[in-house]
Amino acid sequence: MPLIEIRDVSVAYGTPTRPVLDRVSLAIEEGEFVCLLGQTGCGKSTLLRLVLGAERPAAGRILVDGRVHHQPDRTRGYVPQKYSLFPDKTVLDNITFGPEVCEFGLAARLTPRFFRRRREFRRQAFEYLQRIGLEPSDAAKYPDQLSGGMQQRVAIAQALITRPRILLMDEAFSALDPGTRKGMQRLIRQLWKDTGATILFVTHNTHEALRLGTRVVVLAKEMPDSGSRVMLDLPVPEPCRDDDIPRLVRRLESASTSSDPLAPASALSEKW
Ligand SMILES: Nc1ncnc2c1ncn2[C@@H]1O[C@H](COP(=O)(O)OP(=O)(O)OP(=O)(O)O)[C@@H](O)[C@H]1O
Ligand SMILES: [Mg+2]
Repeated sequence: MPLIEIRDVSVAYGTPTRPVLDRVSLAIEEGEFVCLLGQTGCGKSTLLRLVLGAERPAAGRILVDGRVHHQPDRTRGYVPQKYSLFPDKTVLDNITFGPEVCEFGLAARLTPRFFRRRREFRRQAFEYLQRIGLEPSDAAKYPDQLSGGMQQRVAIAQALITRPRILLMDEAFSALDPGTRKGMQRLIRQLWKDTGATILFVTHNTHEALRLGTRVVVLAKEMPDSGSRVMLDLPVPEPCRDDDIPRLVRRLESASTSSDPLAPASALSEKW
């Protein structure tokens, strides 16, 4: 049984309704690293929120581990496209907030066990801080003292620290400069190998998708007014050799621009 099963899912918004997703089906096995590509507005973030359980489809079903989930839980870590940190908490408190809330209700916060666990969460938070390339001295800073890229990395650490079985990342590296982005790509690939997590990763960058994913899925509209469907579902050769990349990039770009002949094929080809 696939870990995530998206069955004939359709979504429409607005009045009159405008279709966003049209009978999208995908089966994702445990341990896959699936990158989701598609032009802006094609419904990538919507699909991620559906898998998170933060939204429900108008038609079709999403099964995670064989069940429909009506709300997020800690099995699914999420790095939203528009992440927001708690402005009144330090970097360290932002990172440890999730596990503390998940494990301890308000009353349980006065017990010695809470303080022991809290020390452990803080130790782990420092470890992630280092892995995402921040300094120990950044732990005491507040979000408004950080650059956009640093804030984005803290949002990634927030999702990683709960060690979710499924990680949903929505353009999680978009605010990073090329060097930092490469470092984060290496980190996420390593974490994926170490933990066996299943990752669904939205990006606009075809090269990034091919470097990271075991599989790349392209969402696109068949007609300008229709909802998006899966236009291409491409396994990435392992290892993906440098000379394979230009051919694969061309296939991915032509699938994602197929409904829009005016769209530049380079819309997704930002290099890294
Ligand atoms: N809550 C909502 N209410 C109304 N319309 C919405 C809502 N969420 C998304 N949409 C619309 O659905 C479409 C798909 O949005 P979505 O954010 O999923 O696209 P996307 O592929 O993630 O785009 P981008 O690459 O720009 O992030 C857009 O036209 C958007 O305006
Ligand atoms: Mg989006």
